[in-house]
Order: sequence, then C-alpha cells, then structure tokens
Amino acid sequence: MREDKSLLISYLEQQKMDDSLIHDVVEFREKYETAEEVRERVYIPDMLFYGKDILEMSAAALLQGENLLLSGAKATGKNVLCETLAWIFGRPSYDISFHVNTDSASLIGTDTFIHNEVRLRKGPVYQCAEFGGFGILDEVNMAKNDAVSVLHATLDHRRRIDVPGYARVRLHPAARFIGTMNYGYAGTKELNEALVSRFMVVDMPPLSEETIRFLLKKQFADVKEQALRQFTGLFLDLQAKVYNGEVSARSLDLRGLIASMKAIRSNLPPLSAIRMGIVNKSFDVFEKEMLEDVIATRIPSSWTRAEIFEG
Ligand SMILES: Nc1ncnc2c1ncn2[C@@H]1O[C@H](COP(=O)(O)OP(=O)(O)OP(=O)(O)O)[C@@H](O)[C@H]1O
Ligand SMILES: [Mg+2]
Repeated sequence: MREDKSLLISYLEQQKMDDSLIHDVVEFREKYETAEEVRERVYIPDMLFYGKDILEMSAAALLQGENLLLSGAKATGKNVLCETLAWIFGRPSYDISFHVNTDSASLIGTDTFIHNEVRLRKGPVYQCAEFGGFGILDEVNMAKNDAVSVLHATLDHRRRIDVPGYARVRLHPAARFIGTMNYGYAGTKELNEALVSRFMVVDMPPLSEETIRFLLKKQFADVKEQALRQFTGLFLDLQAKVYNGEVSARSLDLRGLIASMKAIRSNLPPLSAIRMGIVNKSFDVFEKEMLEDVIATRIPSSWTRAEIFEG
C-alpha cells in the first residue's frame, strides 16, 4: 500500500498535477477503506493516462463528488483515463458495458434461487454502491433510455438505487460513476438530456504531436528517432484528413498504429504491417488508395525493421 502511494505520487508529480489536488487525492485515499472481498478490483493499470489538464479537471470534479462523462473520438484514451482515475483514487473498479440489450436488471441485479430462497444476485451498479466503487459506464450512449433511467436517482444528488421491488440502497460516499461515449463522427448516438445533466462532461481532445510521440516512445523504447518522427507525422496526417472530412475515422486509430509497429518489430515488412493496422480498416477502395498515398509520403517502401528499431 505504501509502495502504491509513492508510485502514485511520483506519477502525479510527473504529470505536474497541482500540489493541492495531489494532497486532496491522497486524503481521499486515506479516508476510505476498501472491503477485503473487493480488494482485487483495486489495481494499477498497464497503461497510465498522459495529459495534465484532463487529469486535473477529472480529479477535481470527482473530489467534489461529481460523476464524469468522457466524450471524444475513438482511441483518445477514455478507458485508459477511467482506469487511471480508479487507481488514483484507490477504489475498486467495475466495467459496465452498455449495448442495446442492457436493461435495468443487468445493471442492478436479478432475483435468483439460492438454497431454495430468492436472493438478489447483485449487479455491478449495486456493488459499486455497496463497496464505494468506481463504475465505468462504457459507451453509455448506446443504452436504451429505459435502461439508463434507473440510474437517474443513482447519479444525481439522491445518490441511491431506487427501483420498485428492490430494497433502497444508499451509495457509499466514495462511489463515483464515469461514463464514456464516442463522439465526433458518423454513427454517434446521442445521450439523452436528463442523463447528460447528471454528469460533468470532459471533452477529450484530439491527440497532440507531443502526446503521440510520448505514447509511442513509451511503448517502443527502442524506436529510432527518424522513424518515431515519421510515425508521429503519419498519425497527425491521418488526423488532419479525418478532420477535413477527406477520409472516415475508421483508420484513425492509435491502437492500430501501435499494433502495426509491434508487428514490424517482430519482422513483418513495414508496409504490410501498416496495411493490416490502418488501411484495411477501411472498406472503401478510394479511401484505401488515399490512405496508401498518405502512408507512402511518410514511410519509404524500402524501409525494413532495421530502419525503425535499434538492435
Ligand atoms: N492520453 C493518453 N494517455 C495514454 N494513452 C493514450 C492516450 N490517448 C490515447 N492513448 C492510447 O490510445 C489507446 C486507446 O485508448 P482507449 O482504449 O482508452 O481509448 P478510447 O477513447 O476508450 O477508445 P474507444 O472510443 O475506441 O473505446 C491506448 O492503447 C493508448 O495507447
Ligand atoms: Mg473505449
């Protein structure tokens, strides 16, 4: 626990988080215990969020007892941020994915027969309430309105689960909910107004040159400077094309770029790897050609692994 705390403080200091916020976060962690049975849900994520301003805004809102909604384009780090926040606050986290079949029972719980009696099998929202968890409402805009309407009393000042047929449960004081939603390209489903009004909303910015460089360097300590510059530039070029509406957002995916670079490191020819990670995510011939052109200006066809990685 003490080790975790020093790791936390060094991470927050690296991010240059405001000192008084760091102080308040540490105080929050020390104030709330975590029950033994959910302790395994408190963990340090594989990847930590990078970005001072977003981190500060999010932490400040959570400290005030608010719930957060992260809205932004694909792969802007929404889930990485959720996991990072749960760790920063030292709370057990619950992933709650929303889709068209999500209903109130899957959120709160279902009645089941255990030893000949009816018992409630507690759903993730119920457990969050009970243990002071951080509930990640992933892609919350994909849910049907009648499913999310059961969350209204949970997410506003009432802070309780209030559903006919269930015992009323008050939220543990450390419980928070963080919603994510994709926004900014075709196919976005709007979130209803009543639900939005229950969140503080963080608009996730597009990735900056500095952020992309930092993230790629962190993933690939052995990348050569020249290649790093070209891959960063490639992502920025794609981002600009998407922004101008020249290509769809399908190919703009840092996950895809990272996966391509991993494949190159295990010796796949660079252009084939990039095709798999980026170009082939588009299913439009003209768009594919355009993507190939962008890539050709950044990554010479003569390049092999040796031009990209040391050793
Ligand atoms: N600011 C950031 N800090 C750390 N990682 C980031 C950041 N922005 C993007 N990433 C990277 O983007 C990838 C995708 O992150 P994540 O899954 O959190 O995105 P998302 O916004 O939830 O995407 P989606 O909308 O597709 O669900 C991660 O693997 C990570 O490498
Ligand atoms: Mg996500």
